[in-house]
Amino acid sequence: MNRKEFMHQCGFACLGVMGLSALTESCAVSRQLDASINDRSQMQVPLSVFITSSKNNRQQFKRYIIVRNDRLNYPIVVYRNAENNYTALLLRCSHQYNELNVNGDLLTCPAHGSEFNAKGEVVHGPAEDKLRSFVTTVDAQNLFIHLV
Ligand code: FES
Repeated sequence: MNRKEFMHQCGFACLGVMGLSALTESCAVSRQLDASINDRSQMQVPLSVFITSSKNNRQQFKRYIIVRNDRLNYPIVVYRNAENNYTALLLRCSHQYNELNVNGDLLTCPAHGSEFNAKGEVVHGPAEDKLRSFVTTVDAQNLFIHLV
């Protein structure tokens, strides 16, 4: 292989890696949302952010999204359990208040290893208390997370 052929093949390989990286990143980012808080202390999330695709007139949904607002010290994970049934949990470990990581239905604490399920219940200590959860309501277009 001469230099020109090598550069040609290497260029396509690099483009392929870059394209895959951008696609992976966009999938990860699509689970994150900066949401507004209205004057009733409700975080407002468009229900459309849970929709991933429509196949044969059947919509597919994300299991969860993570919402943030600068006024909150921690993000909130919102699980979609069923239509009009959501669980909103503050991603703050009940042990020593470290921010939790979301791994599907398992929430893990990088500080000391506590784990919580998608209901906010302790699966593995040292944490002993459930996560803070919020009441949620929906209208035709939005999910509302009641912060107080
Ligand atoms: S702060 Fe999370 S386990 Fe200690």
